[in-house]
Amino acid sequence: MRTRAAVIRETGKPWEVTTLELDEPGPGEVLIKFVASGMCHSDEHMRAGHTEGRLPMVGGHEGAGVVEAVGDAVTRVTPGDHVVCSFIPACGACRYCSTGRQNLCDQGAQMVTGMLPDGSFRFHDDAGADLGGFCTLGTFSERAVVSQYSCIKILDHIPLDVAALIGCGVPTGWGTSVYAAEVSAGDTVVIFGAGGVGSNAIQGARYAGAKNVVVVDPVPFKREKAVEFGATHTFESAEGAHQAVNEMTWGQMAEHAICTVGVLTAEVVSAATDIVGKDGRVTITSVGRSGDTQIALAANGSVVGWQRRIQGHVFGMCNPLYDIPRLLRLYDDGQLKLDELITQRYSLDEINRGYDDLLNGKNIRGVIMHEA
Ligand SMILES: NC(=O)c1ccc[n+]([C@@H]2O[C@H](COP(=O)([O-])OP(=O)(O)OC[C@H]3O[C@@H](n4cnc5c(N)ncnc54)[C@H](O)[C@@H]3O)[C@@H](O)[C@H]2O)c1
Ligand SMILES: [Zn+2]
Ligand SMILES: [Zn+2]
Repeated sequence: MRTRAAVIRETGKPWEVTTLELDEPGPGEVLIKFVASGMCHSDEHMRAGHTEGRLPMVGGHEGAGVVEAVGDAVTRVTPGDHVVCSFIPACGACRYCSTGRQNLCDQGAQMVTGMLPDGSFRFHDDAGADLGGFCTLGTFSERAVVSQYSCIKILDHIPLDVAALIGCGVPTGWGTSVYAAEVSAGDTVVIFGAGGVGSNAIQGARYAGAKNVVVVDPVPFKREKAVEFGATHTFESAEGAHQAVNEMTWGQMAEHAICTVGVLTAEVVSAATDIVGKDGRVTITSVGRSGDTQIALAANGSVVGWQRRIQGHVFGMCNPLYDIPRLLRLYDDGQLKLDELITQRYSLDEINRGYDDLLNGKNIRGVIMHEA
């Protein structure tokens, strides 16, 4: 079968929209026709060469669509089902899945190669090269063959463009506040970076009962949207936020700082550490450039003396089999804003314009709408 897809062949080059050959689903695999795919910053990290992966690769890891066919031994979905693809698969049986930590599923090990559990690839180009899909998905392809472990069946009435965002950005951001940081009622939370992930960290912090949800983002449009998602205060810079947090907490400083900037740097981690008080927690969601050092702190007074904690995580410590339907239920009940996350929709051919818009601060989330 032929499918059109956006591919990274060489880092630092624009996305290449091309036509690939796609194999039939093998045992445990599912053929999905993607309807929509969110444009997360993590694909941009891979394209720019900030993070390392096996190339060439089909991009996209935040998608929703319809099951067209299933291979042998598939039990989770059947043809016609609407599905969200979880950017980390959940096998349900490994050490981590079986202890309520599906975000750490052993099947996630091939995220940056895109190799399926049987050790092979389903995308091939006309020169004979095998391609993996980012996060073993490749949602920037009109169709993909993925493991059933990546598939979460959803109800048919949920719009597939908003459902796509539940594959990564929404649970990652929400879970950053609710699970990874463990924000509590009355807390002061400072969120650095209010993009696709940070906007959902804002929603999670508010839902968890934070008193002050303070957002730092240099882009005015992001700060305006942050208020819509539940921010109580917004600042252009860390310095402005630091002074205000000092005042609003009577000098105690924040319980939480959350890093959801596009590219993690040592400056952001330092500012985040400085803004939390004694026993405060810094929760890091963002990734930076491979080879750079992003955590460079004078530990004595700053971390040891003040008993601060620095916590990294993937996927907001969510359990996709549980949290994806749960978040969609909140949306359906009007308690989680998802429509408001989508700033612009693009065709697959417009992918480079979409990522330029992301880098220029124009989008909370851009979404590719597949046409085929
Ligand atoms: N840990 C995970 O599981 C996980 C999952 C998804 C995304 N991510 C990472 O999270 C990060 C955010 O992703 P996204 O899709 O929301 O990106 P995004 O580009 O949509 O948002 C980043 C935001 O940070 C703001 N920003 C940039 N520099 C800043 C600074 N110095 N201070 C404050 N704000 C700043 C930008 O204006 C933008 O609003 C990326 O690094 C991405 O790779 C991690
Ligand atoms: Zn993502
Ligand atoms: Zn598992």
